[in-house]
Amino acid sequence: MGGRVVLAYSGGLDTSVAIPWLGDQGWEVVAVAVDVGQPGELGADVARASELGAVEARLVDAQTEFAEGFVLPALAMNALYQGRYPLVSALSRPLIAKHLAAIARETGADAIAHGCTGKGNDQIRFEAALAVLAPDARVLAPVRDWDLTRDDAIEYAQQRALPIKTTRSSPYSTDDNLWGRSIECGVLEDPWHPVPEDAFAITCTSDATHEIELGFEQGVPVAVDGERLTPVEILNVVTKVAGTYGVGRIDMVEDRLIGIKSREVYEAPAAMTLIPAHQELEALTLERSVAREKRKLEQTWADLVYEGLWFSPLRTALDAFARVTQQVVTGEVRVRLGTTAQVTARRSQVALYDTALATYGEGATFREEDAAGFSRIWSLPSKRFAKVHGV
Ligand code: ARG
Repeated sequence: MGGRVVLAYSGGLDTSVAIPWLGDQGWEVVAVAVDVGQPGELGADVARASELGAVEARLVDAQTEFAEGFVLPALAMNALYQGRYPLVSALSRPLIAKHLAAIARETGADAIAHGCTGKGNDQIRFEAALAVLAPDARVLAPVRDWDLTRDDAIEYAQQRALPIKTTRSSPYSTDDNLWGRSIECGVLEDPWHPVPEDAFAITCTSDATHEIELGFEQGVPVAVDGERLTPVEILNVVTKVAGTYGVGRIDMVEDRLIGIKSREVYEAPAAMTLIPAHQELEALTLERSVAREKRKLEQTWADLVYEGLWFSPLRTALDAFARVTQQVVTGEVRVRLGTTAQVTARRSQVALYDTALATYGEGATFREEDAAGFSRIWSLPSKRFAKVHGV
């Protein structure tokens, strides 16, 4: 065995141990950390990868690419798996896979390795993406395929006195990016156990409320309180403000692709503020049948991405549909932040809402006399059926 392997390296325990461990098996390791907006010292982590024996260690700054190419399409589709999970981790895997595949090609690697277990969705997401992007590369999954358990990893690190920061310190397994944070393991595995406050890192409990105004152009958030910002800046600002007011905590039992039900906890202040705001602006600007069709396709999009099929022709086609629909989604939404995000006001230069049509007051332009004939014709098929067969 052996050759060169590109390792998806997070700086955490498992993928740190994987470097010398793969080295023991005769592999030359190229460690790749992809910055999708996770907190911490990725630069220092990457430096440590070399100390751990990587022949090369790279940091890829993918924040803008992640925000524009992955988060914005998710927002355009109001993507919530099972109606609740904004796909935080599911969105980053295809992007990380894309960089792994590119670096594998560039460095002439024979294999690509990830640190996923065999019980989650992430292994499927990486491997489904790599099957498309690097079909000739061998995929190594040390944690899954060679039973490198967490305890083994800790023991291995201690025996060799490896310079690794995380040991038994955190009771949770977490995954962070610009769209939010996934939290698993420890006491969370008991669905009857409430989430301890120490599981949360980017949301606070708060009784206070605060209102912000979000500006959208063609479905893309472009401004907060009138100030124009880049997508990365908007995600950071909204995370900070909405998180301060306790928005975005999610505690759910989720159906994983591999068939296991799991208790999952998330904090996603940006997603849980921007999605309702965007939905509300769509309510104001999308034509009824487009909106109706889109709601169905949104489910399909969320399932598809959750289930690891980012690089699929269906996702490309759905994104083309989304792009066309978003051309008219321009305007402002005011949102009250306080545990949840509540839309309080919305407006658009291209609103389909027309007060003259909707009003019950003076100056109505809707011809009510037309409605009587419409009712008769609308009910005709069921009226005929009932006449023949009874009700
Ligand atoms: N259940 C979530 C998902 O499938 C979260 C995964 C978190 N991943 C992790 N490595 N901790 O998207």
